[in-house]
Amino acid sequence: MRIGVIGAGRLGGTLATWCAESGHDVAVTSRHPEQLRERLDRMNGRLRVMSIHQAASFGEVVLFAPNWSSAKEAVDQTRSALAGKVVIDATNPADEVPSPPAGAFAGAFTGSFLTGASTKSTPLMAAALTGPAGEAGDRMFAHAGGKSNLETLIEWAPGAHWVKAFNTIPTDVLSRRRGHDPLMAEFVCTDERDARETACRIIRDLGFAPFYAGGAKAARLTETGGPLQSCEVDVKDATDALAEALSTLR
Ligand SMILES: NC(=O)c1ccc[n+]([C@@H]2O[C@H](COP(=O)([O-])OP(=O)(O)OC[C@H]3O[C@@H](n4cnc5c(N)ncnc54)[C@H](OP(=O)(O)O)[C@@H]3O)[C@@H](O)[C@H]2O)c1
Repeated sequence: MRIGVIGAGRLGGTLATWCAESGHDVAVTSRHPEQLRERLDRMNGRLRVMSIHQAASFGEVVLFAPNWSSAKEAVDQTRSALAGKVVIDATNPADEVPSPPAGAFAGAFTGSFLTGASTKSTPLMAAALTGPAGEAGDRMFAHAGGKSNLETLIEWAPGAHWVKAFNTIPTDVLSRRRGHDPLMAEFVCTDERDARETACRIIRDLGFAPFYAGGAKAARLTETGGPLQSCEVDVKDATDALAEALSTLR
């Protein structure tokens, strides 16, 4: 698959390299291509540098990982090229990089539910566990107010098929967990089923287990300040993590 990566920084550059290693054809953007020389040489032609508009046009799928402060400018330069494409948004508000998780269940997940000390379930957890977890996320978040980066991007470029992923965990942790059993859950939010399947395929290719956390509104759970930010969790525990995250919205 051809993948265009907008913003080949710490996150985008890392993901671009892994996409190329997985056999995808990858184009990255940079205003300083000389800084990418070593990475490009290592990838033997499967990674190339293009202008931002060219990379967006090149990609069948686009990975969107610029600084959030540059996101509007990046969208303005690529809106027509992004139309009709799956675009995976990995940004966080205010350009914050997730803090390294303190333990297996980081961030908001200090509760006993996840560590197994208590198996007491709340009605909210039950709702998330028995129904499609993503729908529960949408319902809950509708009352929480605020807008996710993903919703903002949808407003800026409504012709693209936007998906949220790769924004919760710092690159050093992604590097450590990539491809290792038990696979780490990668939370995915989107309103679009086909786009979700495409994003999930790429997430699997890169050595993670995609886990659907809800629609565009639920993306706020995963962004800075949300309970799924910095949540390093094995896929078998992801349903519990999402239920716990939803319970924090009360
Ligand atoms: N780093 C992480 O561990 C991590 C993890 C999860 C999510 N994120 C999120 O990912 C986003 C990027 O973080 P990062 O740590 O990778 O940042 P970074 O290392 O500073 O890289 C930012 C990238 O954005 C590009 N950029 C800046 N201004 C641009 C513009 N006007 N047009 C096009 N591209 C532009 C830069 O390209 P140039 O080379 O042209 O300067 C650079 O490649 C942030 O929203 C962050 O919250 C980061």
